[in-house]
Amino acid sequence: MALQVSGTGFGLIHGSRGGFRVRGVASESMPAKKVEGGKVKLGGTEVKVTKLGIGAWSWGDTGYWNDSQWDDRKQKEAKAAFDASIDGGITLFDTAEVYGAGIMMGAVNSETLLGDFIKERKKNDSVEVAVATKFAALPWRFGRGSVLSALQASLSRIGLSSVDLYQLHWPGFWGNEGYIDGLGDAFEKGLVKAVGVSNYNEKQLRDAYARLKKRGIPLAANQVNYSLIYRNPEINGVKATCDELGITLIAYSPMAQGILTGKYTPERPPTGPRGKVYTPEYLTKLQPLMTRIKEIAQNYSRSPTQVVLNWLTCQDNVIPIPGAKNAEQAKEFVGALGWRLTDEEVEELRSLAAQIPPATGLPFE
Ligand SMILES: NC(=O)c1ccc[n+]([C@@H]2O[C@H](COP(=O)([O-])OP(=O)(O)OC[C@H]3O[C@@H](n4cnc5c(N)ncnc54)[C@H](OP(=O)(O)O)[C@@H]3O)[C@@H](O)[C@H]2O)c1
Repeated sequence: MALQVSGTGFGLIHGSRGGFRVRGVASESMPAKKVEGGKVKLGGTEVKVTKLGIGAWSWGDTGYWNDSQWDDRKQKEAKAAFDASIDGGITLFDTAEVYGAGIMMGAVNSETLLGDFIKERKKNDSVEVAVATKFAALPWRFGRGSVLSALQASLSRIGLSSVDLYQLHWPGFWGNEGYIDGLGDAFEKGLVKAVGVSNYNEKQLRDAYARLKKRGIPLAANQVNYSLIYRNPEINGVKATCDELGITLIAYSPMAQGILTGKYTPERPPTGPRGKVYTPEYLTKLQPLMTRIKEIAQNYSRSPTQVVLNWLTCQDNVIPIPGAKNAEQAKEFVGALGWRLTDEEVEELRSLAAQIPPATGLPFE
């Protein structure tokens, strides 16, 4: 089950691995390579984060991911994903109070897992981890006070006294002003280093920015669905508004939930909720784009995954947050940084992708 979010509505819906490989792809047998290229500031704040973060939605989740089952093996793999990310120099992690939570029919809260992984790691390592989490604007939550109380609960699950980024997960059912004021309160109390929103359209984004600005608080980020095959932010004004106002666009589902890695094919489509959206028919239409992605990947001795993530980092002011379930996936993300597609390749992939109809029925939108 996953939360269904739109600009105006909210609801609940019910919600194999292949092996495409090319030369030079990071794998478990390769030593972790440190990420290159340093850090970037989140919007107009002083908070610095890596140019790519790790999404932790699948950790502990049984409503959408993990074939409805969570066990010790999967938990160990998630911990290995966390450690491999840190080893590779990626230190930004994105979670949310609803990931893995009971309301989403989850098994273990993702915030709790992330907090445990951080605690364990810090026993032997002084690494600085940047945590981004989110407030769920559930219809029965009213006003600014609900933001502070939800944040306190998140901090206690994660085991931190503050987080680097606190985001409103989706627009409020009854309006956003109270939630924005609550974000501002959290910032002024020092409980969060930066504030952001998620799934906000251009108008909602401008309103949130202006309301926070009156208090001298920068709106640091808007987290939205953005990938080669989901380029709505380029069309609906969200990307341009982020650029204009100095707000970082955090790109979620940057690999279209694994589809752009190339491992799912018309003969082997994904199972579970993803299979309803990425059908064999859709995957057939995707083939010309995937073929070109694979060719480009081969030319750079990279993997398709690294190419599609690099494409996002080439869009300036964009931080992708791919989800990693295990160390191998996390290691692969490290190789998405430290190099760059040419401008011609970026545009070629965009125009090839434009010929593919948008996937419909995604859990978020
Ligand atoms: N704000 C929001 O409303 C919102 C909504 C969605 C997501 N998010 C955030 O964005 C993050 C990422 O989005 P997402 O998880 O939806 O999609 P994604 O990052 O595009 O895809 C993640 C999935 O792709 C597969 N994968 C990952 N690395 C791979 C690799 N190297 N090779 C092959 N397959 C790989 C894994 O699933 P399999 O191995 O099962 O294929 C993984 O769970 C989430 O964790 C969450 O933090 C936010």
